[in-house]
Amino acid sequence: MKPQSSVWHPYTQMSEWDSFTKIVKGQGMWLIDSNGNRLLDGVASMWCNVWGHSKKELIFAIKKQSEKIVHSSLFNLTNDQAESLAKRLVGISPHMHKVFYSDDGSTAMEISFKMALQYWQNKGEKNKSQFATLQNGYHGDTFGAMSVGYVPGFFSKFKNQLYKTIQIPFANSYRLPSNTTPKEYQDQRLEKIEKLFSDNDKIAAFVMESGAQIAGGVNIYQDGFQEKISKLCKKHGVLLILDEIATGFGRLGSLVEYVSQNSKPDIVSYGKMLTGGYITMAATLVTKNIYDSFLGKYSDMRHIYHGHTFTGNPLSCAVANENLSLYDKANLIKKIQKTSKVFEKRVPEILDIKTVGDVRHKGMLMGIELVRDKSKKTPVSFKKSTNKVVFEEAKKNGIYLRTLGNIVMLVPPLAISESELNYLIDRTILTIKNIAG
Ligand SMILES: Cc1ncc(COP(=O)(O)O)c(C=O)c1O
Repeated sequence: MKPQSSVWHPYTQMSEWDSFTKIVKGQGMWLIDSNGNRLLDGVASMWCNVWGHSKKELIFAIKKQSEKIVHSSLFNLTNDQAESLAKRLVGISPHMHKVFYSDDGSTAMEISFKMALQYWQNKGEKNKSQFATLQNGYHGDTFGAMSVGYVPGFFSKFKNQLYKTIQIPFANSYRLPSNTTPKEYQDQRLEKIEKLFSDNDKIAAFVMESGAQIAGGVNIYQDGFQEKISKLCKKHGVLLILDEIATGFGRLGSLVEYVSQNSKPDIVSYGKMLTGGYITMAATLVTKNIYDSFLGKYSDMRHIYHGHTFTGNPLSCAVANENLSLYDKANLIKKIQKTSKVFEKRVPEILDIKTVGDVRHKGMLMGIELVRDKSKKTPVSFKKSTNKVVFEEAKKNGIYLRTLGNIVMLVPPLAISESELNYLIDRTILTIKNIAG
C-alpha cells in the first residue's frame, strides 16, 4: 500500500511518526493547524522568524516585487534589490566591503571557506589550506560545512568522507572538567589556539559561530573570548571566518553580534533572520583586503569560482530590504533587549524543576537541558526520542517546540511580546513537568 504522505522530514526518525501536524496558516506568533489548533511558535520556524507570521509589510514586499520580476540572475546582470541590500548590509557591518549572495546558511558557509582558501592562493601562499575551529561548532549540512562544523552526534556516519580540520576541544559550561570555571576553561582554549597558531603555519582560517554555538549544545562564550580569538588571528596571520547565521540580527541581543563581541572578522555570513524568516536567502560579506585579492586580469584566473541559480534573487532581496527597514522602524534591537529580561527573570523557576540540569540563556535564546539525575547529569531518555515526547506534550499545551537531543530550545520570533513570551515559558514548564511524569 502506498504511504499517505510522500514527504521525508529532516532529522526525523520517520517510524516514530504516524502523521504530522499540518500547518495551514500563520497569525502573528501563532501557527494554526488543519484542525484549527493554535500553537505558539516557540522555535521561530527553525530559528529564523522575526516578526511572527503573516506580517503585512513583508507580504506586500513579496507582492510588489513579484509584479515587477520574480527572478533574474546576477550572472552578467544586476538588480535594484540586490544592489540596495548589499549597500545596507555593508552599512551595518563594520570593516565589510562586498556581499556575495547565496540560498541558505550552509551554502553561505561553503562560500566563506572557498573564499578563504582562494584568498591565500591569490596571495601566492599555497601552503595555507587548513581550517581550525572549536569542537561542536555547526555550520550546516553540506560536506564542507560538516567537515568544519563537526557535531559528532549528527555527522559521524560521514566522517570518512569529510576533509580534515583542526578541532579545539570545546565543552559547554555545564559539562566542564571538575574544578574549572567557564572563564578558566575558555582561557585554556585561548592558550591552545595560540599554541596551534604558533606551531602551524598552514592554517588558512579559524572558523566559529559568532557569540555562541547553538546546534552544538547552546554554548555561550565568556566575555572577551571571541575578541581574544580575533586578536590571535590578526597576530598570527590567520583569517577569521564568523558564522552569524543563527546568532546575528538580534538573536543574542545585538544586530551584528561580532560588533558586540569586539571582534573583526575577515569574512562573515548572515542567513535565517535576514529575510525575517520569510524566504530563503543568505549572504557572505568580506573585507576589502579579501575582495581585492580576487582582482586582476581575466587570464590570471583569480576571480571567484562560485555561483548559484538564485544568487541575488530579487524577490528574496526585496523581502530582506523591507525586513531591515522594519528593524529600524520598530527599534527592534532595543525591544529585544527589554523582552529578553523575561527569560532572565524566569531562569530560577525553570532550574527548580526536578529534571532540569541547566539553563543557558542569552538574548532571545534559551536552552534547557533535561537530565534524569541532577547530580550525575545523565540526560533524560524515553522509549521514543526526547524530541518526539516533548513535541507531543508541548502541542497539547498550545506551543510548538523542537529539542536538540535532551535540550529544549526556546528560540521565539524576535518581536514576541512579553506576555506571549511568558505564556511560552509557562507552557514549556508545564510540558517539562508533565513528561517527567
Ligand atoms: C550557525 C549555523 N550556521 C549555518 C546553518 C545552516 O543554515 P541552513 O539550515 O540555512 O543551511 C545553521 C542552521 O541552523 C546554523 O545554526
